[in-house]
Amino acid sequence: MVRSPRPGRRRLLLALGGVLALAACGAPPGGLDLWKSSTIRQAKERGRLIVALEPEFRPFEYIDEGGNLVGFDVDLCEILRQELNVERVEFLRVNFDVIISTLLSGEADLIVSGMTALPERALRVSYSDPYFHTVTCLLVSRERAADVRSVAELDRPERVVAVKQGTTGEIAARKRCPRARLVSFPTENAAALEVASGRADAFLYDKKSVEQHHARHPDTTFLILDPVTVEPYAIACRKGDPDTVAWLNLVLHHLRRDGRLEELYAKHGLEDSGDGPR
Ligand code: ARG
Repeated sequence: MVRSPRPGRRRLLLALGGVLALAACGAPPGGLDLWKSSTIRQAKERGRLIVALEPEFRPFEYIDEGGNLVGFDVDLCEILRQELNVERVEFLRVNFDVIISTLLSGEADLIVSGMTALPERALRVSYSDPYFHTVTCLLVSRERAADVRSVAELDRPERVVAVKQGTTGEIAARKRCPRARLVSFPTENAAALEVASGRADAFLYDKKSVEQHHARHPDTTFLILDPVTVEPYAIACRKGDPDTVAWLNLVLHHLRRDGRLEELYAKHGLEDSGDGPR
């Protein structure tokens, strides 16, 4: 008769089997391999943090008159550099509509680019906690849409809504004005110009940007500041990397607590929309 091991021993054997199976897969208990391959550790070893951004988004990332890359996110990356204690940050300039694929390809460690953390995007990348909140709103053409008062009034077949490719403004416009004609532009300047020149009724985008485009074209445009969406900006990294997410969140926690985040808001003329629209 073949006797099976006593229940106590059976449990022990099962546990041992589990450990061996895990070891065979190259993942020892305790997740040490995860740490080895984590972005934050690799950047540390390389002595350089590589960040993808699209510098057409004042005041978060843009090129100043002297040709320098500056902005809130650039300063935030400098803080990450200090906390990681590496030599430098390398900024990889990419179009916003390919920014996630740039991260996923491994060319960049992080995305710090005024990027809204959206549930659907979070199926492809992981996000830190939010470091800023914005609302999206409308830059409207005086010539074509002087009577328009809300996003709902743009939801008509004769209306033209401009958006920037791959942004949350584009996603929101598809949801909120499905009947309007959507025109999608590779740059925010092109989308804003479409409105300023009377070829589109409105441009739906993040508040700080539309305010600046309105300031540039005060005679031909006006603003509808009622929030279309409320959006958290967060840092993105590749999935399956809990150490990087935890490290970023810890840095952000300190920044919030010791006043450095508030200082950065003030430096760049930002007001966080916090828990509710502002
Ligand atoms: N917050 C918007 C989004 O996530 C727009 C971000 C654009 N950022 C930039 N650096 N161009 O879609």
